[in-house]
Amino acid sequence: MPIIPSGAIGAKIIGWGTSLPQKVVTNDELSKTMDTSDEWIRERTGIERRHIGGTTASLSIESGRKAIEMSGIDPLSIDALVLSTTTPDRTVPATSATVQHGLSLRCGAFDVNAACSGFVYALITGHGLVAMGMKRILVIGTDTLSRITDWTDRNTAILFADGSGAAVIEASSGPGQLLGWDFDADGSLEDLLYAEIGGTLHMEGKEVFRRAVRIMVESAEKSIKAAGLTTNEIDLVVPHQANLRIIEAACKRLDIPMSRTSVVLNETGNTSSASIPLALFDAVDRGRVKSGDNVLLVGFGAGMTAASAVIKWNQS
Ligand code: ACO
Repeated sequence: MPIIPSGAIGAKIIGWGTSLPQKVVTNDELSKTMDTSDEWIRERTGIERRHIGGTTASLSIESGRKAIEMSGIDPLSIDALVLSTTTPDRTVPATSATVQHGLSLRCGAFDVNAACSGFVYALITGHGLVAMGMKRILVIGTDTLSRITDWTDRNTAILFADGSGAAVIEASSGPGQLLGWDFDADGSLEDLLYAEIGGTLHMEGKEVFRRAVRIMVESAEKSIKAAGLTTNEIDLVVPHQANLRIIEAACKRLDIPMSRTSVVLNETGNTSSASIPLALFDAVDRGRVKSGDNVLLVGFGAGMTAASAVIKWNQS
């Protein structure tokens, strides 16, 4: 897998923001409406509660506004908006158009749909745009999976939720943050997890679980190799927040201890495109990431897709 060619302009994250709906739904609340229990959900997934509500545009505007404010830049200086979502508010136009208007941007805007791998796909795309000469890109990952969840289906309703995370990336004069990356898709597996237009999510949970571990590990290894690093040089893993047991199994195979991962799914559930930025910026805001740290982002999702990136954290 090629990396951005040497000599090309790199980029780094200069501001970020997240957004979660106010409404919180606990496992106990779910167990009042379906045959499940707090104990089962915690043991099998690690999820304790999740946030439900909002639209993809409203959550994106909130996280995007925070990221722009933190960057201290003029919104009009943003050259492109890349919105990762698998739950657009409308079929047409792309939700990025609504978000662009809501944030008073004047730039190209488009949606990326790679399910739960989407934020990493969008981040890589943003770096590609910088390598082609753009200066500032707003990358947002948002999903409102609650709108396509069958709330009577205990196989899926216990997992999925809503949220958003955003990052402003800026061309850097020195080396960029993206050391290595990988993305992949295997469309022959599309029936493992899908929703028809206007329908709700159907999932072969066990099979998704089995494949998720394998494809996360494969993708992570490709990115780490492309970065010229070894797994013990990875300071923090930010995995897709689908199931604690998937994260544990993948980290075990990568030989990375759980103490070097960021996990927020107990509070957020699976928020698809938002899951990696929510976990990344939670770790950063808690002071778990130092300048110069190597951070591995790795996700998998419907498609089935996989994506990973190794970034050298250097915000200043
Ligand atoms: N509450 C109580 N019991 C349940 C529930 C529930 N919510 N769901 C299933 N069960 C029962 C089953 O009926 C089964 O009972 P049985 O043994 O009597 O038949 C038993 O619990 C075990 O069920 P399994 O399906 O084997 O449970 P498993 O340990 O595989 O966990 C889960 C299921 C949580 C869905 C798991 O397979 C998983 O997380 N899979 C991956 C899903 C995922 O990551 N999806 C997102 C992909 S990313 C994207 O693009 C959105």
